[in-house]
Amino acid sequence: MTGNKAPIGIFDSGIGGLTVFREVFRNLPGENIIYFGDTARVPYGNKSPETVLRYSRQIVRFLEKQGVKAIVIACNTASALALDRLEQEISLPILGVVKPGAVTAAEVTVNGRIGLIATESTVKSGLYETLLKSLKPELSVFSKACPLLVPLVEAGWVDDPITLEVVKRYLAELLEKDIDTLIMGCTHYPLLRKMLKNYLGDAVTLVNPAYETALSLKRMLEELHLENPESGQPEYRFYASDSIEGIEHIVKAILPEDMPFTAGTVAIEEY
Ligand code: DGL
Repeated sequence: MTGNKAPIGIFDSGIGGLTVFREVFRNLPGENIIYFGDTARVPYGNKSPETVLRYSRQIVRFLEKQGVKAIVIACNTASALALDRLEQEISLPILGVVKPGAVTAAEVTVNGRIGLIATESTVKSGLYETLLKSLKPELSVFSKACPLLVPLVEAGWVDDPITLEVVKRYLAELLEKDIDTLIMGCTHYPLLRKMLKNYLGDAVTLVNPAYETALSLKRMLEELHLENPESGQPEYRFYASDSIEGIEHIVKAILPEDMPFTAGTVAIEEY
């Protein structure tokens, strides 16, 4: 598959990027998609910028070998730490999730007080804060790193009282700041959306950067005249560097029952 029919490559450290796959699948239903989850090396959120860049480069090389026409970094950590460099290094169009998330949050806040939950590395990068303030300098941004949430989500504990306790502990200091908007600044967190929503109630709007990312991707493909003109059943392929079960489990919940997909493992260190 080449040219406009070539697939879109989406990647994350694990299952989190499937929340982005879901939005791309819904909003660009004609596109072929290849997803890669780095399940052997998750989490990325506590790794150094050099390591995250090295991992991201390997995945990009793998996706390039698969002949993708565009790449979505469905990981806030890799978007914050590696997107700038990758943009310079490759000729394919590539986009991350941080900018779309910041744009949405700046639009939806009413009182100008925005909370951010994300990995250590994303918070440390300061990228959300920089982008939000460049969009609207008057915004106040309160960030909280939530390192325990990714392993809990990867373990499938999305509806568990222990996870709720952890969420409460992390959110307490943000709630004291009177935020009206909370950015789920890690693509794993929308899998906790129900729990977060129940706990926060209606006073806080949850921002899922995945939706705006899918729309940005759509705009980008249109501008570059790269949309897939075929109207047949698109091809969906899922890869992981280690266990693929968690990914398959979520994919089955996202795709309609009769929709075919393939899944397999890849020795990503070889790229
Ligand atoms: N889902 C990723 C993110 O959006 C990475 C989480 C992790 O691996 O720590 O940041």
